[in-house]
Amino acid sequence: MSKIHVTELVLRDGHQSLIATRMRTEDMLPIASKLDEIGFWSLEAWGGATFDACVRFLKEDPWERLRSLRKALPNTRINMLLRGQNLLGYRHYSDDVVHAFVKQAADTGVDVFRIFDAMNDIRNLQTAIEAVKSVKKHAIGTLSFTTSPVHDVAYFVNMAKELEALGCDSIGVKDMAGLLTPTLAGELVRELKAAISLPVHMHSHATSGLASMVMLKSVENGVDIIDTCNSSFSEGASHPTTESLVAALQGTEYDTGLDLGKLQEITAYFKEVRKKYWQFESEFTGVDTRVLVNQVPGGMISNLSNQLKEQGALDRMDEVLAEIPRVREDLGFPPLVTPTSQIVGTQAVLNILTGGRYKSITNEVKNYLLGQYGKAPAAVNAEVRQKAIGDAQAITCRPADLLQPEMAKLQSEAERFANNEQDVLTYAMFPDIGKTFLQERNAGSLQPEQLLSKEAVSQQAAARFAPNEFNITLHGETYHIKLTGSGHVGEERRPYYVKVDGISEEVFVETLSEMEVSDGGTSTGGKKKAAAVASSGRPRPSHPGCVTTAMPGTIVTVKVNVGDKVNAGDGVLVIEAMKMENEIQASKAGTVVAIHVAKGDSVTPDETLIEIQPD
Ligand code: CO
Repeated sequence: MSKIHVTELVLRDGHQSLIATRMRTEDMLPIASKLDEIGFWSLEAWGGATFDACVRFLKEDPWERLRSLRKALPNTRINMLLRGQNLLGYRHYSDDVVHAFVKQAADTGVDVFRIFDAMNDIRNLQTAIEAVKSVKKHAIGTLSFTTSPVHDVAYFVNMAKELEALGCDSIGVKDMAGLLTPTLAGELVRELKAAISLPVHMHSHATSGLASMVMLKSVENGVDIIDTCNSSFSEGASHPTTESLVAALQGTEYDTGLDLGKLQEITAYFKEVRKKYWQFESEFTGVDTRVLVNQVPGGMISNLSNQLKEQGALDRMDEVLAEIPRVREDLGFPPLVTPTSQIVGTQAVLNILTGGRYKSITNEVKNYLLGQYGKAPAAVNAEVRQKAIGDAQAITCRPADLLQPEMAKLQSEAERFANNEQDVLTYAMFPDIGKTFLQERNAGSLQPEQLLSKEAVSQQAAARFAPNEFNITLHGETYHIKLTGSGHVGEERRPYYVKVDGISEEVFVETLSEMEVSDGGTSTGGKKKAAAVASSGRPRPSHPGCVTTAMPGTIVTVKVNVGDKVNAGDGVLVIEAMKMENEIQASKAGTVVAIHVAKGDSVTPDETLIEIQPD
């Protein structure tokens, strides 16, 4: 028997950290039998982000993925990551939903549940642990590691003791940001092993360049299971490399017993697979030591960079990264992991992009301050609290104690598009995109997002340049045309100066209709005139009563009607951006005279969503 066991992360955290969770089941199954032969303690294959990406982007049924993996991996435990009372969603579910979900996951193929809570509030883990024990599966009670004035070794040892008392089968350290130093990891593992009698897992991200050393120190101090990722998807925001650690421990008293030769086949396979997803590659694949200051976890950096890229604001990444620790302190130092990483991250993005801290506050930050995510680890900033929720009282009980059983209600809501309980749970996790997914599946119209081939992208680039010297053949005669200049874009009859077989000619072009050419225009054009209408057809903001969004997103609720009187600061819209709901307020007091959006519309910052005629 080997001394150190390995959990392989390539099917979950590896691609989540490096290619925005886009790996498809079709790329997992062909190598599954090889993975199954290695002898990993477990393979992590399922979790909130993989479930979300399946439904949102890949248009795959996540339950189906689990079922196929279960079949393809008969000899290896399958691990999943579970966000305690949040399950795989972004809110707390009632206890009956937690039980139903865990049972379905266990029946479909999950053997090991790594259960964590973003606040490290034990009350949020309790029911999930009970549920896992009731279906006789393995519960890893997980410590969301972070550093702050309140998070020291003693804090985590106490938490581990409580998790042991709740019946967990092992204790996991989840260092999602790569904050652990080798020395601290050694100390933490040593203290944990001294205080509890359960096996200990170490999960640490390589973001800051410390994780391999963390693993070695953990091993030397008694850790039982290390989480690593195959080199095809390792390091950077991902994890230390499986093959390297296997080699490092080979022949020592900690030998993993895994076969380096066999691992090579897996590596070669996934290296090819990764090329297919180049468009999702994180900008952060190397060592990023900023994390030691800003504490932003790998998955969050990868998502933030994708989000900022979409908004054309990638150049503001450093400002956002600097704002994150300030927001985190305001909120009482929550560890940064889903969903607190999104809550803190989105608020930090808003604080930077809206030109003022807490000028706009997300609903999630308000709910957080109302105690709905659990107890903040430290005191929150009273000024921010006042600004967000005024004099409202925060709850002090376990948040889920306030929830009525909701399975029956979910079942009846989903009746028309859900075929079974797994469908109901998909809808429960993601009410909007889950419902759309199930409806499209039933209609046979699911369309996975497109993967760009490198050729297609160079063709797109080529399409931005119009030819300026060419031959044309008309009725059998070939003429040589060279464009030598043109008048300005926007002139009603635009002159073009061309040479036809060497003879100068002037041609007038009168525009009757236009088609869109991608950015860049022609090299001979004059200044581009800003259109009064965005490509969506909505007007561009032109007066102070125009309500706009700071971030691209999807309209969740329109709270006003034409003719309504509003005060400046009244909520008029709710949009979902970066998976968070955010209220948009009236810019001026006055009367709503036009509404250019409806629920479900995608919106961007350069368009007017609602127009208010100021008083
Ligand atoms: Co992780």
